[in-house]
Amino acid sequence: MKLELTHTNSFVSKEAIQSYESQVASTYNTIYNRTGAGNDFLGWVNLPSEIDESLIADIEKTAAELRKKSDLFVVIGIGGSYLGARAVIEALQNHFAPLTEAKPLVVYAGHNMSEDYLSELIAILDKKDYSLAVISKSGTTTEPAIAFRILKQHIIKKYGEQEAASRIVAITDKAKGALKQLANVKGYKTYIVPDDVGGRFSVLTPVGLLPIAMAGIDIRKLIAGAIEIEKLCKNNPTLNGNIVSEYAVVRHILYGMGKTNEIMVNYEPRLVYFSEWWKQLYGESHGKEHKGIFPASVTFSTDLHSMGQYIQDGIRNLFETVISVENSDHELRIPMEGEDLDQLNYIAGKRISEVNHKAELGTMLAHEDGGVPNIRIVIPEISAFVLGQLIYFFEMGCALSGYMLEVNPFDQPGVEAYKKNMFALLGKKGYEAQTEILNKRLG
Ligand code: PA5
Repeated sequence: MKLELTHTNSFVSKEAIQSYESQVASTYNTIYNRTGAGNDFLGWVNLPSEIDESLIADIEKTAAELRKKSDLFVVIGIGGSYLGARAVIEALQNHFAPLTEAKPLVVYAGHNMSEDYLSELIAILDKKDYSLAVISKSGTTTEPAIAFRILKQHIIKKYGEQEAASRIVAITDKAKGALKQLANVKGYKTYIVPDDVGGRFSVLTPVGLLPIAMAGIDIRKLIAGAIEIEKLCKNNPTLNGNIVSEYAVVRHILYGMGKTNEIMVNYEPRLVYFSEWWKQLYGESHGKEHKGIFPASVTFSTDLHSMGQYIQDGIRNLFETVISVENSDHELRIPMEGEDLDQLNYIAGKRISEVNHKAELGTMLAHEDGGVPNIRIVIPEISAFVLGQLIYFFEMGCALSGYMLEVNPFDQPGVEAYKKNMFALLGKKGYEAQTEILNKRLG
Protein backbone atom coordinates (compact mmCIF):
# COMPACT_ATOMS: atom_id res chain seq x y z
CA MET A 1 0.00 0.00 0.00
CA LYS A 2 1.31 3.39 -0.94
CA LEU A 3 0.77 6.96 0.11
CA GLU A 4 0.81 9.34 -2.80
CA LEU A 5 1.37 13.05 -2.65
CA THR A 6 0.52 15.60 -5.30
CA HIS A 7 0.28 19.35 -5.19
CA THR A 8 -0.45 22.33 -7.34
CA ASN A 9 2.47 22.95 -9.66
CA SER A 10 1.12 26.35 -10.63
CA PHE A 11 1.82 27.60 -7.10
CA VAL A 12 5.07 25.78 -6.34
CA SER A 13 7.39 25.01 -9.25
CA LYS A 14 9.52 21.88 -9.50
CA GLU A 15 12.60 24.13 -9.55
CA ALA A 16 11.58 25.83 -6.31
CA ILE A 17 11.17 22.44 -4.64
CA GLN A 18 14.45 21.16 -6.07
CA SER A 19 16.31 24.11 -4.59
CA TYR A 20 15.73 22.54 -1.16
CA GLU A 21 17.63 19.36 -2.00
CA SER A 22 20.67 20.02 0.16
CA GLN A 23 18.65 21.59 3.00
CA VAL A 24 16.49 18.47 3.19
CA ALA A 25 19.52 16.18 3.33
CA SER A 26 21.14 18.26 6.04
CA THR A 27 17.87 18.39 8.02
CA TYR A 28 17.68 14.59 8.00
CA ASN A 29 21.30 14.58 9.24
CA THR A 30 20.28 16.90 12.06
CA ILE A 31 17.50 14.50 13.01
CA TYR A 32 19.34 11.19 12.66
CA ASN A 33 22.58 12.49 14.22
CA ARG A 34 20.60 14.19 16.97
CA THR A 35 22.32 17.53 16.65
CA GLY A 36 19.33 19.88 16.49
CA ALA A 37 17.28 21.71 19.12
CA GLY A 38 15.25 19.37 21.31
CA ASN A 39 17.38 16.37 20.28
CA ASP A 40 16.65 14.61 23.57
CA PHE A 41 13.07 14.16 22.31
CA LEU A 42 13.82 12.11 19.21
CA GLY A 43 12.79 8.76 20.64
CA TRP A 44 9.84 8.59 18.22
CA VAL A 45 12.23 8.33 15.23
CA ASN A 46 13.08 4.63 15.80
CA LEU A 47 10.05 3.81 17.89
CA PRO A 48 8.04 1.77 15.35
CA SER A 49 10.89 -0.59 14.43
CA GLU A 50 12.27 -0.79 17.95
CA ILE A 51 9.12 -1.45 19.97
CA ASP A 52 9.72 -4.52 22.11
CA GLU A 53 7.68 -7.58 21.19
CA SER A 54 7.24 -8.17 24.92
CA LEU A 55 5.68 -4.72 25.35
CA ILE A 56 3.24 -5.26 22.49
CA ALA A 57 2.27 -8.68 23.89
CA ASP A 58 1.84 -7.20 27.36
CA ILE A 59 -0.42 -4.42 26.06
CA GLU A 60 -2.49 -6.99 24.14
CA LYS A 61 -2.80 -9.14 27.26
CA THR A 62 -3.86 -6.23 29.47
CA ALA A 63 -6.38 -5.11 26.85
CA ALA A 64 -7.80 -8.63 26.49
CA GLU A 65 -8.30 -8.91 30.28
CA LEU A 66 -9.90 -5.50 30.66
CA ARG A 67 -12.08 -5.92 27.57
CA LYS A 68 -13.73 -8.95 29.17
CA LYS A 69 -15.01 -6.95 32.10
CA SER A 70 -15.63 -3.51 30.58
CA ASP A 71 -18.61 -2.01 28.76
CA LEU A 72 -16.70 1.26 28.74
CA PHE A 73 -13.02 2.13 28.86
CA VAL A 74 -12.28 5.66 30.02
CA VAL A 75 -9.13 7.29 28.65
CA ILE A 76 -8.13 10.10 30.98
CA GLY A 77 -5.60 12.40 29.33
CA ILE A 78 -5.17 15.66 27.45
CA GLY A 79 -3.22 16.81 24.38
CA GLY A 80 -0.74 14.18 23.27
CA SER A 81 -1.98 11.91 26.03
CA TYR A 82 -5.29 11.24 24.27
CA LEU A 83 -5.45 12.71 20.77
CA GLY A 84 -3.43 10.00 19.01
CA ALA A 85 -5.52 7.21 20.48
CA ARG A 86 -8.75 9.03 19.70
CA ALA A 87 -7.60 9.75 16.13
CA VAL A 88 -7.03 6.06 15.42
CA ILE A 89 -10.04 4.74 17.32
CA GLU A 90 -12.52 7.15 15.73
CA ALA A 91 -11.05 6.50 12.27
CA LEU A 92 -11.57 2.76 12.60
CA GLN A 93 -14.67 2.26 14.67
CA ASN A 94 -18.25 2.36 13.43
CA HIS A 95 -19.52 5.94 13.04
CA PHE A 96 -22.38 5.02 15.34
CA ALA A 97 -20.33 2.94 17.77
CA PRO A 98 -22.19 4.27 20.84
CA LEU A 99 -25.43 2.95 19.34
CA THR A 100 -24.08 -0.51 18.52
CA GLU A 101 -23.52 -3.42 20.86
CA ALA A 102 -19.73 -3.05 20.45
CA LYS A 103 -17.89 -3.40 23.75
CA PRO A 104 -15.96 -1.82 25.22
CA LEU A 105 -16.67 1.64 23.94
CA VAL A 106 -13.75 3.99 24.53
CA VAL A 107 -14.77 7.31 26.10
CA TYR A 108 -12.62 10.24 27.16
CA ALA A 109 -12.13 12.38 30.25
CA GLY A 110 -9.53 14.78 31.60
CA HIS A 111 -9.31 16.64 28.28
CA ASN A 112 -11.54 19.45 29.55
CA MET A 113 -12.66 20.85 32.88
CA SER A 114 -16.36 20.85 32.17
CA GLU A 115 -18.35 20.04 35.29
CA ASP A 116 -21.29 19.00 33.14
CA TYR A 117 -19.21 16.68 30.96
CA LEU A 118 -17.78 14.85 33.96
CA SER A 119 -21.08 14.73 35.81
CA GLU A 120 -22.84 13.20 32.84
CA LEU A 121 -20.00 10.70 32.35
CA ILE A 122 -20.30 9.65 36.00
CA ALA A 123 -24.04 9.14 35.57
CA ILE A 124 -23.29 6.73 32.72
CA LEU A 125 -20.49 5.01 34.66
CA ASP A 126 -22.93 4.39 37.51
CA LYS A 127 -24.80 2.02 35.20
CA LYS A 128 -21.94 0.41 33.26
CA ASP A 129 -18.99 -1.83 33.97
CA TYR A 130 -15.82 0.02 33.20
CA SER A 131 -12.08 0.25 33.50
CA LEU A 132 -9.81 3.20 32.87
CA ALA A 133 -6.38 4.40 31.87
CA VAL A 134 -4.97 7.55 33.37
CA ILE A 135 -2.37 8.91 30.99
CA SER A 136 -0.01 11.75 31.77
CA LYS A 137 3.67 11.82 30.91
CA SER A 138 4.42 14.52 33.47
CA GLY A 139 1.96 13.01 35.92
CA THR A 140 1.07 16.50 37.11
CA THR A 141 -1.28 17.93 34.47
CA THR A 142 -4.28 19.53 36.16
CA GLU A 143 -7.11 18.46 33.82
CA PRO A 144 -6.45 14.69 33.92
CA ALA A 145 -5.46 14.87 37.60
CA ILE A 146 -8.87 16.32 38.51
CA ALA A 147 -10.74 13.79 36.36
CA PHE A 148 -8.72 10.92 37.82
CA ARG A 149 -9.26 12.00 41.41
CA ILE A 150 -13.01 11.99 40.80
CA LEU A 151 -13.17 8.77 38.78
CA LYS A 152 -10.79 7.00 41.16
CA GLN A 153 -13.23 7.64 43.98
CA HIS A 154 -16.10 6.51 41.78
CA ILE A 155 -14.47 3.26 40.69
CA ILE A 156 -13.43 2.40 44.27
CA LYS A 157 -16.95 3.05 45.52
CA LYS A 158 -18.34 0.89 42.76
CA TYR A 159 -15.98 -2.11 42.96
CA GLY A 160 -14.01 -1.81 46.23
CA GLU A 161 -10.28 -1.00 46.53
CA GLN A 162 -8.90 -4.27 45.22
CA GLU A 163 -11.08 -4.76 42.14
CA ALA A 164 -10.83 -1.04 41.35
CA ALA A 165 -7.03 -1.28 41.36
CA SER A 166 -7.23 -4.12 38.83
CA ARG A 167 -9.33 -1.90 36.55
CA ILE A 168 -6.94 1.06 36.58
CA VAL A 169 -3.89 1.41 34.34
CA ALA A 170 -1.49 4.32 34.79
CA ILE A 171 0.66 5.42 31.85
CA THR A 172 3.28 7.91 32.92
CA ASP A 173 6.96 8.69 33.44
CA LYS A 174 9.18 5.91 34.80
CA ALA A 175 10.02 7.81 37.99
CA LYS A 176 8.84 11.41 38.11
CA GLY A 177 5.43 12.96 38.83
CA ALA A 178 2.55 12.61 41.24
CA LEU A 179 0.82 9.96 39.11
CA LYS A 180 3.83 7.63 39.27
CA GLN A 181 3.96 7.91 43.08
CA LEU A 182 0.23 7.31 43.32
CA ALA A 183 0.39 4.28 41.01
CA ASN A 184 3.23 2.82 43.08
CA VAL A 185 1.35 3.26 46.34
CA LYS A 186 -1.88 1.80 44.96
CA GLY A 187 -0.24 -0.97 42.95
CA TYR A 188 -1.80 -0.10 39.58
CA LYS A 189 -0.63 -1.73 36.39
CA THR A 190 1.75 0.83 34.93
CA TYR A 191 3.23 1.52 31.51
CA ILE A 192 6.06 3.92 30.94
CA VAL A 193 6.17 6.84 28.53
CA PRO A 194 9.78 6.89 27.31
CA ASP A 195 11.78 9.94 28.44
CA ASP A 196 12.75 10.83 24.90
CA VAL A 197 9.24 10.77 23.40
CA GLY A 198 7.16 13.95 23.84
CA GLY A 199 3.41 13.78 24.41
CA ARG A 200 2.31 14.62 20.87
CA PHE A 201 4.76 12.08 19.40
CA SER A 202 3.67 9.31 21.76
CA VAL A 203 0.83 7.57 19.92
CA LEU A 204 3.00 4.52 19.19
CA THR A 205 3.90 4.08 22.88
CA PRO A 206 1.47 2.61 25.46
CA VAL A 207 -0.10 6.10 25.54
CA GLY A 208 -1.83 5.34 22.25
CA LEU A 209 -1.42 1.60 21.95
CA LEU A 210 -3.33 0.52 25.06
CA PRO A 211 -6.50 2.53 24.32
CA ILE A 212 -6.30 1.50 20.66
CA ALA A 213 -5.99 -2.16 21.64
CA MET A 214 -8.91 -1.69 24.05
CA ALA A 215 -11.00 -0.64 21.05
CA GLY A 216 -10.22 -4.00 19.46
CA ILE A 217 -7.86 -2.57 16.83
CA ASP A 218 -4.82 -4.55 15.70
CA ILE A 219 -1.91 -2.48 17.04
CA ARG A 220 0.58 -4.63 15.14
CA LYS A 221 -0.86 -3.41 11.83
CA LEU A 222 -0.65 0.18 13.02
CA ILE A 223 3.01 -0.29 13.95
CA ALA A 224 3.73 -2.10 10.66
CA GLY A 225 2.40 0.89 8.72
CA ALA A 226 4.59 3.27 10.71
CA ILE A 227 7.64 1.06 10.14
CA GLU A 228 7.12 1.32 6.39
CA ILE A 229 7.43 5.13 6.44
CA GLU A 230 10.22 5.01 9.04
CA LYS A 231 12.16 2.84 6.58
CA LEU A 232 11.25 5.00 3.60
CA CYS A 233 12.85 7.99 5.34
CA LYS A 234 15.86 6.07 6.65
CA ASN A 235 16.59 4.44 3.30
CA ASN A 236 16.20 7.69 1.40
CA PRO A 237 16.84 10.69 3.65
CA THR A 238 16.68 13.09 0.73
CA LEU A 239 14.19 15.14 -1.22
CA ASN A 240 13.72 13.06 -4.33
CA GLY A 241 11.48 10.04 -4.11
CA ASN A 242 10.51 10.84 -0.53
CA ILE A 243 6.97 12.15 -0.11
CA VAL A 244 7.58 13.15 3.51
CA SER A 245 10.35 15.51 2.44
CA GLU A 246 8.22 16.83 -0.39
CA TYR A 247 5.35 17.61 1.98
CA ALA A 248 7.68 19.49 4.34
CA VAL A 249 9.28 21.45 1.51
CA VAL A 250 6.05 22.38 -0.26
CA ARG A 251 4.42 23.67 2.93
CA HIS A 252 7.62 25.59 3.75
CA ILE A 253 7.62 27.24 0.32
CA LEU A 254 3.92 28.09 0.65
CA TYR A 255 4.56 29.60 4.08
CA GLY A 256 7.25 31.80 2.52
CA MET A 257 4.63 32.94 -0.03
CA GLY A 258 2.35 34.18 2.76
CA LYS A 259 0.21 31.05 2.96
CA THR A 260 0.26 31.04 6.73
CA ASN A 261 -2.77 28.81 7.32
CA GLU A 262 -2.87 25.13 6.42
CA ILE A 263 -6.26 23.48 6.40
CA MET A 264 -6.33 19.71 6.77
CA VAL A 265 -9.25 18.55 4.65
CA ASN A 266 -11.04 15.24 4.81
CA TYR A 267 -14.08 13.90 3.02
CA GLU A 268 -14.63 11.16 5.59
CA PRO A 269 -16.06 12.22 8.95
CA ARG A 270 -14.22 9.38 10.66
CA LEU A 271 -11.02 11.39 10.08
CA VAL A 272 -12.12 14.38 12.15
CA TYR A 273 -9.99 13.34 15.13
CA PHE A 274 -7.06 12.52 12.89
CA SER A 275 -7.12 16.21 11.98
CA GLU A 276 -7.32 17.10 15.68
CA TRP A 277 -4.21 15.00 16.33
CA TRP A 278 -2.42 16.63 13.37
CA LYS A 279 -3.41 20.13 14.55
CA GLN A 280 -1.86 19.51 17.94
CA LEU A 281 1.26 17.96 16.44
CA TYR A 282 1.90 20.85 14.07
CA GLY A 283 0.48 23.70 16.15
CA GLU A 284 2.37 22.86 19.32
CA SER A 285 5.56 21.98 17.47
CA HIS A 286 5.82 25.01 15.19
CA GLY A 287 3.87 27.88 16.72
CA LYS A 288 6.68 29.65 18.55
CA GLU A 289 8.92 32.72 18.29
CA HIS A 290 5.98 34.36 16.48
CA LYS A 291 6.41 31.93 13.59
CA GLY A 292 4.66 28.88 12.19
CA ILE A 293 1.77 27.88 9.95
CA PHE A 294 -1.59 27.93 11.74
CA PRO A 295 -3.12 24.45 11.41
CA ALA A 296 -6.86 24.27 10.90
CA SER A 297 -9.21 21.56 9.68
CA VAL A 298 -12.48 21.01 7.87
CA THR A 299 -14.63 18.05 6.91
CA PHE A 300 -16.05 18.24 3.40
CA SER A 301 -18.55 18.28 1.94
CA THR A 302 -20.13 19.22 5.32
CA ASP A 303 -18.00 22.34 5.72
CA LEU A 304 -18.31 23.37 2.09
CA HIS A 305 -21.67 24.62 3.34
CA SER A 306 -20.06 26.65 6.12
CA MET A 307 -16.33 27.35 5.66
CA GLY A 308 -16.35 26.77 1.90
CA GLN A 309 -17.22 30.38 1.14
CA TYR A 310 -14.26 31.71 3.14
CA ILE A 311 -11.85 29.22 1.63
CA GLN A 312 -13.01 30.11 -1.89
CA ASP A 313 -13.09 33.90 -1.48
CA GLY A 314 -11.69 35.09 1.87
CA ILE A 315 -8.16 36.28 2.74
CA ARG A 316 -5.69 34.47 0.47
CA ASN A 317 -3.38 33.20 3.19
CA LEU A 318 -4.61 29.61 2.97
CA PHE A 319 -3.56 26.31 1.53
CA GLU A 320 -5.19 22.92 1.90
CA THR A 321 -3.82 19.47 2.57
CA VAL A 322 -6.42 16.96 1.49
CA ILE A 323 -6.50 13.39 2.74
CA SER A 324 -8.06 11.61 -0.19
CA VAL A 325 -9.38 8.11 0.50
CA GLU A 326 -9.62 5.89 -2.58
CA ASN A 327 -11.82 3.07 -1.30
CA SER A 328 -14.78 2.93 1.08
CA ASP A 329 -15.45 -0.04 3.36
CA HIS A 330 -19.07 -0.31 2.19
CA GLU A 331 -20.91 -0.10 -1.11
CA LEU A 332 -24.07 1.99 -1.42
CA ARG A 333 -25.57 3.14 -4.70
CA ILE A 334 -28.06 5.89 -5.44
CA PRO A 335 -31.31 4.21 -6.52
CA MET A 336 -33.23 4.96 -9.72
CA GLU A 337 -36.74 6.40 -9.31
CA GLY A 338 -39.37 6.29 -12.03
CA GLU A 339 -40.72 9.77 -11.35
CA ASP A 340 -37.36 11.50 -10.73
CA LEU A 341 -39.11 14.23 -8.74
CA ASP A 342 -35.86 15.07 -6.93
CA GLN A 343 -34.01 15.10 -10.29
CA LEU A 344 -31.30 12.77 -9.12
CA ASN A 345 -31.70 10.12 -11.82
CA TYR A 346 -28.65 11.52 -13.63
CA ILE A 347 -26.52 9.97 -10.89
CA ALA A 348 -28.69 6.90 -10.30
CA GLY A 349 -26.62 3.73 -10.11
CA LYS A 350 -23.51 5.59 -8.97
CA ARG A 351 -21.87 4.86 -5.65
CA ILE A 352 -22.00 7.59 -3.01
CA SER A 353 -18.19 7.44 -2.90
CA GLU A 354 -18.03 8.33 -6.60
CA VAL A 355 -20.11 11.43 -5.98
CA ASN A 356 -17.92 12.24 -2.97
CA HIS A 357 -14.79 11.91 -5.14
CA LYS A 358 -16.24 14.19 -7.79
CA ALA A 359 -17.04 16.73 -5.07
CA GLU A 360 -13.42 16.41 -3.95
CA LEU A 361 -11.99 17.00 -7.43
CA GLY A 362 -14.42 19.82 -8.18
CA THR A 363 -13.54 21.50 -4.90
CA MET A 364 -9.81 21.14 -5.46
CA LEU A 365 -10.07 22.82 -8.87
CA ALA A 366 -12.39 25.56 -7.58
CA HIS A 367 -10.15 26.33 -4.61
CA GLU A 368 -7.05 26.37 -6.78
CA ASP A 369 -8.83 28.80 -9.10
CA GLY A 370 -9.61 30.86 -6.00
CA GLY A 371 -5.89 31.05 -5.10
CA VAL A 372 -5.75 28.22 -2.56
CA PRO A 373 -2.96 25.72 -3.32
CA ASN A 374 -3.82 22.08 -2.69
CA ILE A 375 -1.61 19.29 -1.44
CA ARG A 376 -3.25 15.86 -1.81
CA ILE A 377 -2.27 12.82 0.19
CA VAL A 378 -3.94 9.83 -1.41
CA ILE A 379 -4.50 6.75 0.73
CA PRO A 380 -6.01 3.51 -0.53
CA GLU A 381 -8.33 3.07 2.46
CA ILE A 382 -8.72 3.89 6.12
CA SER A 383 -7.10 0.96 7.90
CA ALA A 384 -4.79 0.45 10.89
CA PHE A 385 -1.83 -0.02 8.55
CA VAL A 386 -2.50 3.17 6.58
CA LEU A 387 -3.09 5.17 9.76
CA GLY A 388 0.29 3.93 11.00
CA GLN A 389 1.82 5.18 7.76
CA LEU A 390 0.13 8.55 8.14
CA ILE A 391 1.19 8.91 11.76
CA TYR A 392 4.86 8.47 10.94
CA PHE A 393 4.51 10.53 7.75
CA PHE A 394 3.21 13.51 9.72
CA GLU A 395 5.62 13.05 12.64
CA MET A 396 8.68 13.12 10.38
CA GLY A 397 7.10 15.88 8.27
CA CYS A 398 6.65 17.86 11.48
CA ALA A 399 10.28 17.44 12.54
CA LEU A 400 11.58 18.41 9.09
CA SER A 401 9.24 21.41 8.88
CA GLY A 402 10.15 22.55 12.39
CA TYR A 403 13.87 22.51 11.71
CA MET A 404 13.36 24.26 8.36
CA LEU A 405 11.45 26.95 10.26
CA GLU A 406 14.38 27.12 12.70
CA VAL A 407 12.36 26.37 15.81
CA ASN A 408 12.65 23.59 18.36
CA PRO A 409 9.77 21.31 17.26
CA PHE A 410 9.83 19.30 20.48
CA ASP A 411 9.10 21.81 23.24
CA GLN A 412 5.97 23.79 24.11
CA PRO A 413 7.03 26.69 26.37
CA GLY A 414 3.96 28.74 25.49
CA VAL A 415 1.60 26.25 27.13
CA GLU A 416 2.86 27.36 30.56
CA ALA A 417 1.38 30.87 30.35
CA TYR A 418 -2.25 29.90 30.94
CA LYS A 419 -1.26 27.39 33.62
CA LYS A 420 0.63 30.05 35.56
CA ASN A 421 -2.39 32.36 35.52
CA MET A 422 -4.83 29.57 36.36
CA PHE A 423 -2.73 28.47 39.35
CA ALA A 424 -2.42 32.08 40.51
CA LEU A 425 -6.18 32.64 40.21
CA LEU A 426 -6.83 29.41 42.09
CA GLY A 427 -4.52 30.58 44.90
CA LYS A 428 -1.89 27.85 44.52
CA LYS A 429 1.05 28.21 46.90
CA GLY A 430 4.03 29.90 45.28
CA TYR A 431 1.96 32.04 42.86
CA GLU A 432 1.10 34.88 45.28
CA ALA A 433 2.79 37.67 43.30
CA GLN A 434 1.07 36.67 40.08
CA THR A 435 -2.29 36.45 41.92
CA GLU A 436 -1.97 40.08 42.94
CA ILE A 437 -1.06 41.23 39.43
CA LEU A 438 -3.93 39.30 37.84
CA ASN A 439 -6.51 40.39 40.37
CA LYS A 440 -5.58 44.04 39.64
CA ARG A 441 -5.95 43.43 35.92
CA LEU A 442 -9.30 41.76 36.38
CA GLY A 443 -10.47 44.65 38.57
O1 PA5 B 1 2.66 17.23 23.36
C1 PA5 B 1 2.74 17.52 24.55
O2 PA5 B 1 3.77 17.37 25.21
C2 PA5 B 1 1.52 18.02 25.32
O3 PA5 B 1 0.46 18.27 24.49
C3 PA5 B 1 1.11 17.00 26.35
O4 PA5 B 1 0.80 15.79 25.73
C4 PA5 B 1 -0.08 17.49 27.18
O5 PA5 B 1 0.17 18.75 27.71
C5 PA5 B 1 -0.36 16.50 28.32
O6 PA5 B 1 0.78 16.37 29.12
P1 PA5 B 1 0.92 15.17 30.13
O7 PA5 B 1 0.96 13.91 29.35
O8 PA5 B 1 2.22 15.44 30.83
O9 PA5 B 1 -0.25 15.21 31.06
